[in-house]
Amino acid sequence: MAILKMENINKEFYGIKALDNVNLEVEEGEIHAIVGENGAGKSTLMNVLSGVFRYGEYEGSIIYEGKECKFNNIRDSEKLGIVIIHQELTLSPYMSAAENVFLGNEQTKNRIIDWEKTTIEARRIFEKIGLDENPETIVNTLGVGKQQLIEIAKALSKNVKLLILDEPTAALNEDDSENLLNLLLEFKKQGITSILISHKLKEVARVADRITILRDGATIETIENDEYLSEDRIIKGMVGRDIGDYYPEREHRIGEVFFEIKNWNVVNAVNNDEKIIDNINIDIRKGEVVGIAGLMGAGRTEFGMSLFGESFGKKTDGVILKDGKELDVNTVSKSIKNGLAYVTEDRKDYGLILIDSIKNNISLANFDKISNNYVLNKNEEIKIAERYRNELTIRSRDILQRLEDLSGGNQQKVILSRWILSEPDLLILDEPTRGIDVGAKREIYTIINQLAEQGKSILMISSELPELVEMCDRIYVMNEGRIVGELEGEEAIAENVMRCIMRDSKEEE
Ligand SMILES: Nc1ncnc2c1ncn2[C@@H]1O[C@H](COP(=O)(O)OP(=O)(O)OP(=O)(O)O)[C@@H](O)[C@H]1O
Ligand SMILES: [Mg+2]
Repeated sequence: MAILKMENINKEFYGIKALDNVNLEVEEGEIHAIVGENGAGKSTLMNVLSGVFRYGEYEGSIIYEGKECKFNNIRDSEKLGIVIIHQELTLSPYMSAAENVFLGNEQTKNRIIDWEKTTIEARRIFEKIGLDENPETIVNTLGVGKQQLIEIAKALSKNVKLLILDEPTAALNEDDSENLLNLLLEFKKQGITSILISHKLKEVARVADRITILRDGATIETIENDEYLSEDRIIKGMVGRDIGDYYPEREHRIGEVFFEIKNWNVVNAVNNDEKIIDNINIDIRKGEVVGIAGLMGAGRTEFGMSLFGESFGKKTDGVILKDGKELDVNTVSKSIKNGLAYVTEDRKDYGLILIDSIKNNISLANFDKISNNYVLNKNEEIKIAERYRNELTIRSRDILQRLEDLSGGNQQKVILSRWILSEPDLLILDEPTRGIDVGAKREIYTIINQLAEQGKSILMISSELPELVEMCDRIYVMNEGRIVGELEGEEAIAENVMRCIMRDSKEEE
């Protein structure tokens, strides 16, 4: 039986169709995946379903458990057991885990918040989902994997029947993703229906019963996920054509050592006793793509940020050399001037000005490039923004559209454009393809290859081992703020990277 039917859904933003007669039918108790390129309309469709866009702000009908629903807000849909976990986590960082779980749904006794009950109930749900954490822990001290589980605990506290997860594993490492998928399968046994949006087709193939493909705001098809379904088949549905080799070829022209990082040590800026980066020594050659692998919390992002104008922690020792000469990189602007760029994984906090336009965000770090005598060349600015919008297929009305109105993946493409344009000598990429669709991933790999072919150095932090292994000439493995291994050539395979991490963790015990 269908628990949900969305019929002929239309949704426009400023006269542009984000959803064009979309139909979706979800069976009771199934895991239904929705896939599609960045900007295809997945999140928008789920926002319609959950009442983020109220009845009247879209056309079409929502039939849930046999009744037509006209939601005015999220609360209306939650009352019926429809709960959405959004693409970007929405927990309150300074509140405890338990407070977050019951936020807006407080446990009370005589109209006063009952803290004891809050803790006990939270613990009960945590146990159910295998989250081993004290409910009183402040959320921002927890890793993303645990935060994601708290979002799920929050959903369960609301008596969920239809759980919607918008890219729940984008920020999770392999273990945490695996646990989350198992949890979905567990929910399925209990009769909970799930809708899963994901760019990770492998996980879709693993857990979904059926898959609906959206392209350009329209439903393309819904397919059964059986043993005959191939990833290529799904991609073809999403993109409308074969995309060819997923990892494009690069002409390897590796030159002299370009950048050297020596004796790099960083401590926590507040608590100087806490070591974060422990004496890292690495080098990167001209035309070389060097990867940094490691588990969540290994210190990879902290390392990347500390190189870029000491944006993280406090450096206690260390130098960066370019062509053998020491660089002054102790502020972000000096780092940029000296040829460094850092593309962050967290576009909300560090990268983008969401209320500003695509055009301005792209030119932000590049005033030197597009101005003459300190006067910004407006034509040039527009031309460049248009070029990147086309090359990276940034889906938007035009280049003046505000970033906060773009889909998650398209925001990521804007930030990449900005730093590619700055033509850095050392491009530090931190999870560059997180939340990016398959077609655009390929574009990004192509651009990385082009930069390398021009003799630039690239340092790529990624949790996607296949991506690291395919793209990098050499891989450093990090654990607990240290480099614990270096793999090159034939040796640089996923298995060896994992072995390296495990071996180091064992030695520690
Ligand atoms: N608030 C908004 N204002 C204007 N346009 C919007 C708004 N929200 C979404 N859009 C546009 O609607 C289209 C669909 O966006 P949506 O976020 O649904 O894509 P998506 O499939 O979830 O993509 P992604 O995989 O990148 O998350 C995009 O072209 C986007 O720019
Ligand atoms: Mg989305």
